[in-house]
Amino acid sequence: MTTQIPQDVRRDDRYATGEKFASLRGIKAAARAKLSETNWNYLQCGTGDEITARENVAAFDRYLFDAPLFTGVANPDTRTNVLGYELSFPAFTAPFGGGETLFHPEGMLAVGRAAHAAGIRQMVPVAAGHSLEDVREASPAAVVFQMTFCGEESAVIDMMHRAKDAGYEYICVTFSPIRQWRERMMEDRFSLPAGEKPSNFGPGKSDISMLTELLDFTEPRWGWDKAANVIAQAPLPCIVKGIGGRADARAALKAGAQGLYVSNYGGRTIDRTPAAITTLAEVRAEAGPDVPIIFDSGIRRGSDIATAIALGANAVALGRIAALGLAADGEAGVKRVLDLLRDEFWTTLGHLGCSAVSDLSPEVFRTMP
Ligand SMILES: Cc1cc2nc3c(=O)[nH]c(=O)nc-3n(C[C@H](O)[C@H](O)[C@H](O)COP(=O)(O)O)c2cc1C
Repeated sequence: MTTQIPQDVRRDDRYATGEKFASLRGIKAAARAKLSETNWNYLQCGTGDEITARENVAAFDRYLFDAPLFTGVANPDTRTNVLGYELSFPAFTAPFGGGETLFHPEGMLAVGRAAHAAGIRQMVPVAAGHSLEDVREASPAAVVFQMTFCGEESAVIDMMHRAKDAGYEYICVTFSPIRQWRERMMEDRFSLPAGEKPSNFGPGKSDISMLTELLDFTEPRWGWDKAANVIAQAPLPCIVKGIGGRADARAALKAGAQGLYVSNYGGRTIDRTPAAITTLAEVRAEAGPDVPIIFDSGIRRGSDIATAIALGANAVALGRIAALGLAADGEAGVKRVLDLLRDEFWTTLGHLGCSAVSDLSPEVFRTMP
């Protein structure tokens, strides 16, 4: 377990650390400088006019805290237990694949090592540039395996067994009925170079038709009944990602989900859905107090993490913000992102008068949208 007290925040010279990157802004600038225009667009883009991608971030600005005088605490505890894991702060790295090795050749290997060093856990995408076995081998933080429910049920179940055999402990279930309309990638004529293709498929591994079918518009699409049937046969507990409100939450729990993952994929699947953070409270209300809820889409700083926890999430997942660290400086860049997020989260807790993560509630807000 990493330190509970971020010493670099407490020191008087906290504004003058020896760190390569002073702030998340600096990491973003470094990532921008390192990536080609095409790869930058791949990292940042949303779909359509990118309204949802922007709103995901902008919506956080409309949750305003109340920080009453003389209630602050000096040494808040950022640690929490989620899905049975002791986390140094309430975060996982999100599954981001299908080209993450364009940001850094070490891709998910680097992300996993950084997550472990920072005392959190990693969600590993099926579309990673490294095989699920190699990612798991690289880091004990790799505990959740994300996979898309599509194609043959037996192929999906086989893949889950493969993940379990490799040491994963949860499946993050995703659905994606059809291709996404990403205009920046269209304009860039984006395509993955041969050496950057996902590694989990192919001879001796798994049948690539599982993912290609998805892109070929093959009918019938998966529905909740089919998903429930597969979840019932899953060798690992399943967390359903993409929950966008009460109805999704109800359906996922009925289908056997052990956890809910509120997300609109950072606005990368369909445009003009609401900012994900505005749907979180209703999902918590539907799920009741005991169902684990992960949240992502728009987390950019430590105070965003506090906002999501206060609205009912048990932990957040870090997508673009972690990808920026990867692009800026590989494993060290991701580690620095995680440290900065944890330290800002720590100071936010302290100013809000929260001694522990569990003290966060909607009462910390003065204004909500
Ligand atoms: C470059 C990139 C690739 C992604 N690939 C996947 C993926 O393979 N599987 C998945 O479930 N989500 C994927 N996502 C979505 C993230 O897991 C996460 O939901 C999203 O980034 C959260 O939004 P945010 O980045 O605005 O915080 C990807 C995101 C990015 C930025």
